[in-house]
Amino acid sequence: MPQWLDDAVFYEIYPQTFYDANGDGIGDFEGIIQKLDYIKDVGCNALWLNPCFDSPFKDAGYDVRDYKKTAPRYGTNEDLKRLFTEAHARNMHVLLDLVPGHTSEEHPWFLESKKEAPNEFWNRYIWTDNWFRWGAGGLRFITGEAPRNASYIINFFKCQPALNYGFLNPTESWQLPVNHPDALATREALKDVMRFWLDAGGDGFRVDMADSLVKFDDEKKSGTSAVWKDVRAMLDRDYPEAALVSEWSNPPLALNAGFHMDFLLDHANSGYRTLVRDYRLDGELRPFNDNSFFKKDGNGDIQRFLDQYLPWYETVKETGYISLITGNHDTGRISGNLSGRELALAYALLFTMPGVPFLYYGDEIGMRYLYTPTKEGGYTRTGSRTPMQWNRGKNLGFSTAEPDKLYLPVDPGADAPTVEEQRHDPNSLLNTVKALLRLRRAEPDLQSKPNLEILHAEKRLFVYRRSALVLAVNSGSAAVETAVSLTGTPVYAIGSCSLHEGRCRMEAQSFGIWKI
Ligand code: NOJ
Repeated sequence: MPQWLDDAVFYEIYPQTFYDANGDGIGDFEGIIQKLDYIKDVGCNALWLNPCFDSPFKDAGYDVRDYKKTAPRYGTNEDLKRLFTEAHARNMHVLLDLVPGHTSEEHPWFLESKKEAPNEFWNRYIWTDNWFRWGAGGLRFITGEAPRNASYIINFFKCQPALNYGFLNPTESWQLPVNHPDALATREALKDVMRFWLDAGGDGFRVDMADSLVKFDDEKKSGTSAVWKDVRAMLDRDYPEAALVSEWSNPPLALNAGFHMDFLLDHANSGYRTLVRDYRLDGELRPFNDNSFFKKDGNGDIQRFLDQYLPWYETVKETGYISLITGNHDTGRISGNLSGRELALAYALLFTMPGVPFLYYGDEIGMRYLYTPTKEGGYTRTGSRTPMQWNRGKNLGFSTAEPDKLYLPVDPGADAPTVEEQRHDPNSLLNTVKALLRLRRAEPDLQSKPNLEILHAEKRLFVYRRSALVLAVNSGSAAVETAVSLTGTPVYAIGSCSLHEGRCRMEAQSFGIWKI
């Protein structure tokens, strides 16, 4: 387990829209370098960059054309290496986005694979044995696109053919077993890409659709897990400080497979969703019927989160971490349904739970979800990917390009939140985030490892303990109290609350931390 994860707090950057240093309307590596001090000042000491590799960008870069070459629009491989060096000089770490399950349909491997004549890459993707054969077990097939007399399987969009790691239980001759030399060759190619970037100075990877590799996998994902266990053995042996976080949202399976951390995502029926995103959307993508725990006037109940989280936490706490997120490039912006005190309380919880938290760029100032037409396969996700709002200058400080040249438009509102304004307002969300993360840095009990114990969890009141600290949040609009046979001295508070003489009293929408 890389030791730096003990107190890591991540900042996710969508490189397209973070900071444009060369004025061409799109973000770049140099822009990220120039903002490292800002990120550090927010309180984050690690970055996750969304894919920044050569790509036709039909899915914002999740359609990789060359794993070993950066997209020229962000800079060269040397620029990315400079970003690693600059981050390390500030004691920060950088995770790249690894897309192991599929490539772009323009990747040279795929161009070879689709040829009529067999070649080295013929089995790098999953092809049937006849153009007229498709449809099996929920897999998605494309036919009629290649000279090769076969149909192929995609993993996500049509432009993303699935790489071939084999089938756990093959039932047709075109389904390779997982130990077929060609399936093993795909695995080695993946490891080769990982080594390439780790040798260049990267600190690990966020892994896209990590559970999707082996097809017809069983419930425990044994086939896919075997691939990751092999990868983890390589890391433990050759790169013990490299970290892996999975897009899986099932920590027991993901950590058993070898990941150090797994995200909780906003999938339907997920416990995470009940905290901050338990709403429905109307035709204009406006949330309604919001029963998120942090929605002051909703019907939230912390127990709905804990029902899923706690068994998972107990299962994985000795082996790795659960990563709670403020949001990401696929979710709606957290400020779409929560505001003001609701957001502050949500961050207070997300940043004081065990595990390694992730802050999505702009969430520290409450950037809004902005309806915009789809860009690079974003569809409804595009509204969460708009340019970072630095100040009141041109394009809110994101870029010096003319507005019509920007990757996406900036928030047009006169009240669009900016870093510059919030920096000077002691009560701003930005300063709340900074205070919370400062606290997390200063109090080892609040970091990734120290144990979580639940002291009280009922509807709007959640009281929990992390070693010598007691924490409590009341997300509702009524004051509440409960017996807690501990007395503590206050460390931090949002709103009014107390832990005194065996009672924890919490006014409406409050949060407190006490040392016992
Ligand atoms: C998950 C990524 O987060 C998402 O943005 C992407 O579209 C899909 N995987 C496909 O790679």
